[in-house]
Amino acid sequence: MTDASLTLKIESLNHEGRGVAHRDGKAIFVDGALTGETVTYSVYRKKDAFEMAQVTRIVRESHARVKPRCPHFGVCGGCSLQHMEPSAQIAAKQRVLEDNLTHIGKVKPDTMLSAIHGPAWGYRSRARLSVKLVEKKGGVLVGFHERKSSFVAEMDSCEVLPPRISALIPHLRALIMQLSIRDKLPQIELAATDAVDVLVIRHMVPLGDGDEQLLRVFADAHRIQWWLQSKGPDTIVPFYPLDAPELAYTLPEFNLVMPFRPSEFTQVNTAVNPILMRRAMQLLDPQPFERIVDMFCGLGNFTLPIARSAKQVVGIEGSKELVARARQNAERNGLTNTEFMVENLFTITPDQLAALGHFDKMLIDPPRDGAYTLVQALGLDAPKRIVYVSCNPATLARDAAVLVHEKGYRLRAAGIANMFPHTAHVESIALFERA
Ligand SMILES: C[S@@+](CC[C@H](N)C(=O)[O-])C[C@H]1O[C@@H](n2cnc3c(N)ncnc32)[C@H](O)[C@@H]1O
Repeated sequence: MTDASLTLKIESLNHEGRGVAHRDGKAIFVDGALTGETVTYSVYRKKDAFEMAQVTRIVRESHARVKPRCPHFGVCGGCSLQHMEPSAQIAAKQRVLEDNLTHIGKVKPDTMLSAIHGPAWGYRSRARLSVKLVEKKGGVLVGFHERKSSFVAEMDSCEVLPPRISALIPHLRALIMQLSIRDKLPQIELAATDAVDVLVIRHMVPLGDGDEQLLRVFADAHRIQWWLQSKGPDTIVPFYPLDAPELAYTLPEFNLVMPFRPSEFTQVNTAVNPILMRRAMQLLDPQPFERIVDMFCGLGNFTLPIARSAKQVVGIEGSKELVARARQNAERNGLTNTEFMVENLFTITPDQLAALGHFDKMLIDPPRDGAYTLVQALGLDAPKRIVYVSCNPATLARDAAVLVHEKGYRLRAAGIANMFPHTAHVESIALFERA
């Protein structure tokens, strides 16, 4: 028998994928619980304003509940929603976007766009795997951090990495155990593409005698390319084999090849990125007579496709390395109608924005903090149309409030892209227009 006083009815999921319930007015966030479920729970953290708890028993189960595929689910912090059926995850993320727009932004889109999604598994082309020598666990751990601690999870596979990379994890653990610098190697960064899989080793001390040879043998056996990183990101250099294919992703619909360095930001989900790109282009609808600006342009992921149809595109970005990369990528693809500049868009003033001249349209793809200062800086000459790609629905909603309630835009459409299946991460896209 369940003690009813210890059961909770889960009302919703929060931004971390935890079930949200209330008891005596206090919020309780329950790991492993889904909306609509009734669960018993045990509290593992108590604060004045809220409690964190773990499900101990599911009294009434959601129809959306499925058996997690990964044996490390619950311990590993990489995924938080594997116990939820993938289409229900998408519906939940759509609800998060709508709730944020309603409650934070006080805005409502004219149209909700259908969700963009790709394969549910093996989608992660970029990852940062932590490495830790833990003698009492019998060797080296390679993986994501644990869900409730900063320890590295003990794992031998990962369902969201490409299967060939997941299969490498035990081999990587064995390899690092053989290296003389096994306790001076905190992370391995992954960049997986169709042509080459790059693994970047961050090493705190020089590789020892014999280490280089072990890396070479591993690369040949598993068909990967090693890069080494001795200090900051600018110290990353290819190591072996030096004649590997170029590290690049492609956007075939726009006939573009986008080389990048492993330290540079690229979209993690290479299956969803082209679909999101197509949606962004449909919404932006660049015309051959238009001057368009791509804010937070990175290495030109959106700038270059826009340049295929617009008269001119200006890409603006805070990282000078990425701006240099974007320029090279434009040149590499034979585009002569792009211009790039380094600018801190978190501090841009109305005068600085106006000095860039008139833009017919704008694309904004900011980091999690959003683009509050930028949207505040829009003046009377602001673009008629803005497409906003967001990795944080709360800051999108906050910025939407400025655009709609202060700058005279209408929120025409919004929708999500399931960039990170099995995580609570919500990527979305919105179209704003003004008369
Ligand atoms: C979500 S990424 C988008 C990059 C690019 N649009 C793409 O699709 O690959 C956000 C970008 O914002 C840049 N960024 C972060 N802070 C910035 C700032 N204060 N000013 C300008 N750019 C910034 C990052 O370097 C990164 O390239």
